[in-house]
Amino acid sequence: MTERVLYLMICGAGPAGHVHVVVELAQNAGWSVHCVATPAAVEHFLDLDELHRLTGHPVRTGYRGQGQPPLPPADAVIVAPATYNTINKWAAGIADTYVLTQLAELTGLGVPIAVLPFVNTALASNPVLHRNMEVLRSTGVHVLFGPGGFEPHPPRKGDSAMEGYPWLAAVNAIS
Ligand SMILES: Cc1cc2nc3c(=O)[nH]c(=O)nc-3n(C[C@H](O)[C@H](O)[C@H](O)COP(=O)(O)O)c2cc1C
Repeated sequence: MTERVLYLMICGAGPAGHVHVVVELAQNAGWSVHCVATPAAVEHFLDLDELHRLTGHPVRTGYRGQGQPPLPPADAVIVAPATYNTINKWAAGIADTYVLTQLAELTGLGVPIAVLPFVNTALASNPVLHRNMEVLRSTGVHVLFGPGGFEPHPPRKGDSAMEGYPWLAAVNAIS
């Protein structure tokens, strides 16, 4: 059986340093995982060689360079960790990273997308985030925020929140 293709969009927040967890969960669920990362995720959190080794595919950080293989079409997408920045820009139609450009197109194509935010209670108190999560939900995107999904932690408590980060909810949402 051909493996289904999952794009894992990785933004610049703490769980990006632990994405091997969701890669393995998705692989065990039968997905071939292709990672696409924002510049902030690459700068602060990711080991690109390790992710390449784990997935069997180079991590995409921008448009395809000469000689790079094209990404196969996605059957589903997980955005995790999804930052305050990327959620708000995506919903506002801004496409100034490769991740955002891809998300704009994939949303328009109706590809199943699960979003697992990682924001503290201070960021989560901003009404703009909730408005924008509703915008994304109205397009059919599964935003996993609240009971059963991601629940915000107090500021400066992100490290302890990472252990219980509900990666599996994202895999289940697109399976
Ligand atoms: C160490 C570190 C931790 C961060 N943690 C978070 C976080 O938990 N949630 C968040 O939304 N942004 C967090 N940020 C800020 C984002 O990285 C920043 O807003 C960046 O512009 C996001 O870009 P991106 O959405 O393209 O990945 C963190 C940044 C750093 C350097």
